Amino acid sequence: MRYGHFDDERREYIITRPDTPLPWINYLGSEAYFGIISNTAGGYSFYRDARLRRLTRYRYNNAPLDVGGRYVYLRDDETGDFWSPSWQPTQRELEDYSCRHGLGYTVIGSKYKGIRAETLYFVPLGEDLEVWRIRVTNDRPTRAKVSLFDSIEFCLWEALEDNTNFQRNYSTGQVEVEDGVIYHKTEYRERRNHFAFFACSAPLAGFDTQRDNFLGAYRGWDRPIVVEEGKATDSIAHGWQPMGSHHVKLDLAPGETREVVVLLGYQENPNDDKFDPPGSQTINKKRVKPVIARYLDPANVEIAFQALNDHWTRLLGILQVDTGSEHVNRMVNIWNAYQCMVTFNLSRSASLFESGIGRGMGFRDSSQDLLGFVHMIPARARERLIDIAATQLPTGGAYHQYQPLTKRGNNDIGGGFNDDPCWLVLGVAAYLKETGDVAILDELVPYDNKPGTEMPLYDHLQRSLQYNLDRLGPHGLPLIGRADWNDCLNLNCFSETPGESFQTTENKGGGVAESVFIGGLFVLTSNEMAKIAALHGDTVQAKASADAAASMTRVVETAGWDGDWFRRAYDYFGKVVGSKENAEGSIFIEPQGICIVAGIGLENGMAQKALDSVEERLATKHGIVLNNPAFTHYYLELGEISTYPEGYKENAGIFCHTNPWLMIAEAMSNDGEGALDYYLRICPSAREEISEIHRCEPYVYAQMIAGKDAPTHGEAKNSWLSGTAAWNFVAISQWILGIRAEYDGLRVDPVLPAAWESFTVTRQFRGATYKIRINKTRGQAGRVSSLTIDGRKVEGNLIPLPVRPDGVFEVEAFVK
Ligand code: BGC
Ligand code: NOJ
Repeated sequence: MRYGHFDDERREYIITRPDTPLPWINYLGSEAYFGIISNTAGGYSFYRDARLRRLTRYRYNNAPLDVGGRYVYLRDDETGDFWSPSWQPTQRELEDYSCRHGLGYTVIGSKYKGIRAETLYFVPLGEDLEVWRIRVTNDRPTRAKVSLFDSIEFCLWEALEDNTNFQRNYSTGQVEVEDGVIYHKTEYRERRNHFAFFACSAPLAGFDTQRDNFLGAYRGWDRPIVVEEGKATDSIAHGWQPMGSHHVKLDLAPGETREVVVLLGYQENPNDDKFDPPGSQTINKKRVKPVIARYLDPANVEIAFQALNDHWTRLLGILQVDTGSEHVNRMVNIWNAYQCMVTFNLSRSASLFESGIGRGMGFRDSSQDLLGFVHMIPARARERLIDIAATQLPTGGAYHQYQPLTKRGNNDIGGGFNDDPCWLVLGVAAYLKETGDVAILDELVPYDNKPGTEMPLYDHLQRSLQYNLDRLGPHGLPLIGRADWNDCLNLNCFSETPGESFQTTENKGGGVAESVFIGGLFVLTSNEMAKIAALHGDTVQAKASADAAASMTRVVETAGWDGDWFRRAYDYFGKVVGSKENAEGSIFIEPQGICIVAGIGLENGMAQKALDSVEERLATKHGIVLNNPAFTHYYLELGEISTYPEGYKENAGIFCHTNPWLMIAEAMSNDGEGALDYYLRICPSAREEISEIHRCEPYVYAQMIAGKDAPTHGEAKNSWLSGTAAWNFVAISQWILGIRAEYDGLRVDPVLPAAWESFTVTRQFRGATYKIRINKTRGQAGRVSSLTIDGRKVEGNLIPLPVRPDGVFEVEAFVK
């Protein structure tokens, strides 16, 4: 069952009923100012860091689920009837409700008793503010007198404090109101140099800044007393809950449309210029007033909105495909690329499943996310790589996360995950292939952000791999440390204390737990390092890395091989995990994926056997589960993985991040049918038809779909912020459609189902534009054996580096 539909032409998903199974959200902003917005206008905004600079309040996990937002109310001043055009929070029965989630904007509108209203929400490029452009139209045959109220509730900046420290919070809230603009200035008197503003373009009938005045005692956002009575109280907040609301009266002739622009924004002042006049306690508004004035002008709003759309056209234009599959087209051309950009911006910090309080930027996560966005924003990818590397420890190890505002690593969610450093190498390799910018390897980057420790990025990469070589276990496999990619396989934790974090606890030291997964990852990474070293003119390192990859391959093929699949690990006691010897968890997806992606077993039949085992034991119609059989009870020696009920999360859930590794493995094994089949099983667009089962947004990937052991098999959770986005993008664009940036050119190497016909790809690469046509006869599988570039024949399937960096080239590829 569907709750809406795709409009690929407009690059939108259009939700046509408000009561979606879960709030279906979108993101506003892509630089410093961000917002989450649901299909019923729920959500919140923040500046750079969802925990430290939260602008507005949101109540996670509440009833109803989506409480707190950018709510607009309309009131018929003749009858007193009032409603919200976004359905929430008043939940009136609306006509023509629609929410159009687009790229960086959302439009929500409806009609109620002859009054149409529509609000466009977006963040203009380069600005620290969001625009709400509200249009109200009178479709009645008679004049209509309507009151409009906008509303937001301010967060007292630090989101965790705001949710907990009420003895203080109830006394600190402060606002100023000047020329109808509401300024939120809590703590501005002391150490903060920033404030928020809430402005409205129309003449005001009144305003409110104290929540209790606006809502009324014991009332919720569904029936604010001010809206019910149609009269703002001009309240000024002193402590309690500062909020913002403007009251605008509209008198609309039949057919008339009025436009009201509302702005919510963030502004900083220099510390020595905070007040005006100096020595007073009044906010200095000289910097913010021109910005407010500019965007309260509808003409500038229109220009900014157009610029935002052009920005996305430019980003997405770097790779566009036209294939016979609407799912592939819309995911690659629009939504998957868009989701990759959102993971670039937010890592794992703020969604409906990440509270914006717990997790910042992950070392591993951000390194992998880069694989999905590097082609769109190489300069920002470069900056990101340097930021990540600067948090690396001198041992080559890593903090598991860093805070975006400070860019400092912290141990809040642990450290010593022994796979972390490898992902940095993969991120740098992807960047180098995309850009050819070898100078980045000489960039001086500190360790642990400590001045004086700066070394070339190349040194960081060397230490990354050395980190694993310095930590090998009895079988010669890398020690797992706190965990590997699977944060929940905690082999040194042994936790018996409720609430103790599996990610930060190590109750048994000095163990010998090893990871086959890291073994595979190490092979993949060392081979990349060998190429990077060669590029850097370091033949010694190139050889050392190639040798290290070869010997680790031998270890994986012996100690890591179980007969029909790759094993998962060896535990603290040296007992095997992920083997026929294990009654539960006898096979895991991760080593099958990553080992084959690293090329292990492709020549000797192991890869094919492993793929067959995956199909037989792990694949379901909703995707491939993480392990099988699921763990039916808690295993002290395995950790968090066995805390989850069967079929959820890391315990036999369909952990979508891992599925693309199998798609790539299928492609590397020359099975285009298998690769695309796995792709479509978890593809959000292909699952739109079963939205009532899938429940999350049909336009973006979720981290997890409940596995076959779960009572809710097929139900997705944790949409948006997941490595799933980047890896699926890599799998479909680079391995199934086969367009891959390499050091010396652009590879054209599709691996497709026989039923596919010819298709076209436009790819910008190293400044040039390639218009590629893959000529393929339906019914024939096969691979590309030759190319023509502007009619000239090239042997093999590599488009060499562009001869004219700004040229446009016509490429024909022939599948035989
Ligand atoms: C989740 C993992 C996640 C980890 C982050 C665990 O509870 O199951 O998916 O990576 O927390 O610290
Ligand atoms: C989510 C984390 O963000 C990611 O880093 C990890 O690899 C997976 N969970 C698996 O545990």
